[in-house]
Amino acid sequence: MILPIYIYGQPVLRKVADDITPDYPNLKELIANMYETMDNAEGVGLAAPQIGLPIRVVVINLDVLSDDFPEFKGYRKAFINPHIIETSGELEDMEEGCLSLPGIHENVKRAGKIRVTYLDESLQPHDEIVEGYLARVMQHEFDHLEGKMFIDHISTLRKQMIRGKLSSMLKGKVRCAYRYKAVKI
Ligand code: NI
Repeated sequence: MILPIYIYGQPVLRKVADDITPDYPNLKELIANMYETMDNAEGVGLAAPQIGLPIRVVVINLDVLSDDFPEFKGYRKAFINPHIIETSGELEDMEEGCLSLPGIHENVKRAGKIRVTYLDESLQPHDEIVEGYLARVMQHEFDHLEGKMFIDHISTLRKQMIRGKLSSMLKGKVRCAYRYKAVKI
């Protein structure tokens, strides 16, 4: 089922999300719905707060980028209770967007290397070092679980430049091709 994507201004996007327990109700169905919602919106990732749930569940699909990054062919994964344990490496600057911030694209500096722990869809634990583009996507998505969005990482000047777009979103004026839930509708 395609779920509405919560837009900037929704309080759930600013909450620190909780870990879930293995008996979380209908987890498989939730993950399936998150994949479907992400695919429909043509996103590379989606975090549970973006569908209104303050819990630590994220889906990532890098298969859509496999023309440019062949190593991501078939890469579709769900992450349960992910935590970034450590960041290292050079800071890298790259443009990002977010399904909860339609129409906004800004450069964001992120660590080149991270260490993450999470459970996979079969609830098996992982402890991994991740680099490159995947490390960036994980940092963006896992930020959502800390109540953060990519615009929190941009300069005051850039933030002023997008102020108009942000205030439109707060008034419920949103232009995007997928189902969404803005603050005032
Ligand atoms: Ni996002």
